[in-house]
Amino acid sequence: MSDELQIIIMAAGLGTRMKSRTVKVLHRAAGRPLIDYVVDLAHEISDAAPVVVVGHQREAVQQHVGDRARYAVQEQQLGTGHAVQQAIDQIKAKEVLILSGDVPLTRAETLLRLIEEHRRSRNALTLLTMNLGDPGLYGRIVRDAKGAVERIVEAKDANEQQRAIREVNAGIYIFDGGHLVSNLKKLSTNNAQGEYYLTDLIGMLREDGKRVGALLIENPVEVLGVNSRSELATVEGEIQRRVVERLMSEGVTFRNPSTVVIDSTVSIGPDTVVYPFVTLEGTTRIGTGCVIEPGVHLQNVAVGNDVHLKTGTVAEDAVIEDEATVGPYAHLRPGTELARHVKIGNFVETKKATFGEGAKASHLSYIGDAEVGADVNIGAGTITCNYDGVSKHKTVLEDGAFIGSDTQLVAPVRVGRGAYVGAGSTITKDVPPDSLALSRVPQKVVEGWAKQRRKKK
Ligand code: UD1
Ligand code: CA
Repeated sequence: MSDELQIIIMAAGLGTRMKSRTVKVLHRAAGRPLIDYVVDLAHEISDAAPVVVVGHQREAVQQHVGDRARYAVQEQQLGTGHAVQQAIDQIKAKEVLILSGDVPLTRAETLLRLIEEHRRSRNALTLLTMNLGDPGLYGRIVRDAKGAVERIVEAKDANEQQRAIREVNAGIYIFDGGHLVSNLKKLSTNNAQGEYYLTDLIGMLREDGKRVGALLIENPVEVLGVNSRSELATVEGEIQRRVVERLMSEGVTFRNPSTVVIDSTVSIGPDTVVYPFVTLEGTTRIGTGCVIEPGVHLQNVAVGNDVHLKTGTVAEDAVIEDEATVGPYAHLRPGTELARHVKIGNFVETKKATFGEGAKASHLSYIGDAEVGADVNIGAGTITCNYDGVSKHKTVLEDGAFIGSDTQLVAPVRVGRGAYVGAGSTITKDVPPDSLALSRVPQKVVEGWAKQRRKKK
């Protein structure tokens, strides 16, 4: 859009009702801080960076949002009117759109409709309103005999009759810049909360004979504000619903969509099937044609195409390439990289371990600080003893090596290409390529021993 429009985002409040150490706008919904959604929205509406009014924990907020915004500082949180006052020197445009950092679900289309309505009606101010069954603590919209918006009364200042009003202020406004600047200076704190209310500008503009309009939006969910953990959960639920809806439209199957938790940052390719109770977080990317079984939990994991993640697989900061199979109940810890066709089976834990194409560790193993070559077969119960109590050491299993069950690989150690390690061995020295290493005590057989023993009893 044009330079005629400027956006201000109010984000200085602590959010007392969150009962948190963290400032409200940095609370996460579907993996992203609330403020991110509002900054995204601002960028959809205008190319100019929005002005974010920061106060509580402003370093943290500024560090997070970075150069996607400019800033105005509100040292003391004296109300929404006071917040916008702090940005007054930065207000240059003909139109100023004001958003709240704690209202993350608004769609760009809705704001575009608000802007259009504002221009069409040549208003000094146009705001979004909604009808709520329970208007709670929202500001009440008081209309005059002709149905025009007369003023906003905050819930805490409202009389009984006003409190019964169902139409409330969504907290999203577009102002004529000049009128905004001149009236901001006149705000007072003469109200129940002793704050400078931005909402008082409505009454002031009306008394000046200016036009104030309201756009009633049908779906209140779009302007839900987050003031409590309960509202945070509601907002997160709505974002989740939108994420799953989008993924389904992109070709992903969900067997029970209401049970999954998927961050808005996650992508999934078509023809992947997601089972119930799956959690996908952070930068996780999943390719096409995968099967993600119940209870899978991935955090920052890159998954290729046609991968099968079986029940209970947990992975973080890992890479899983095409056609690999993992689980059930496997744990891929940071630095795990599985090449194509790798198979990691039941109760296997990996950490900082790369597996070459076609390598297998099918049962009950711990593979850490390891480089596993292509087509290596790791038998059940194999342990890389990577830690000597002081530092970590590396295990290298070259291509095609065969590690028998119940082997301990005491690192640093290397098993050469195509070599065999006999079951039950403790390997402390490098094994040359194509050889066999065995380190078990030879078996002793005492003929008739058991029969003798039974006789004695
Ligand atoms: C505000 C409106 C109310 C509306 C509701 C919609 C006022 C006086 N009331 O109430 O009519 O129905 O939003 O969600 O405006 N903030 C600052 N500095 C401050 C105070 C607040 O930056 O000094 C920021 C907050 O961080 C938040 C936003 O402004 O992002 C809204 O503040 P909040 O205290 O949640 O206002 P409400 O009580 O919800
Ligand atoms: Ca609020």
